[in-house]
Amino acid sequence: MGQYRTHVFVCTTGETCPTQGDVEGFVKYLRGEVARAGLKDDVRINKAGCFSQCGHGPMLVVYPDDVWYAGVQEADLKDLFESHVRDGKPVERLRYRPGVQGANKKKDAK
Ligand code: FES
Repeated sequence: MGQYRTHVFVCTTGETCPTQGDVEGFVKYLRGEVARAGLKDDVRINKAGCFSQCGHGPMLVVYPDDVWYAGVQEADLKDLFESHVRDGKPVERLRYRPGVQGANKKKDAK
């Protein structure tokens, strides 16, 4: 087992995700919930660069579960935190399943 049970990456410095939602606010909210739940030793919320899935954002990835989320909105964060980060149950309605491996940028995304 690594240093954290759950490691969440939020795409905050790519070219499109930060234009599709308040991703810095997502990080702040999730870090706050982690602290409130007493999970600071178990869960790490990190800012991340582009996942090469531009245009599908805002995007988050949860490891070691290897669960990817797309189109996450502020209103989804409570569910995402409580169901997946806290309780270990992925939020199926937000899962990203593009059906192709590797990079998958939308054509109109930079
Ligand atoms: S900008 Fe977020 S995946 Fe590229």
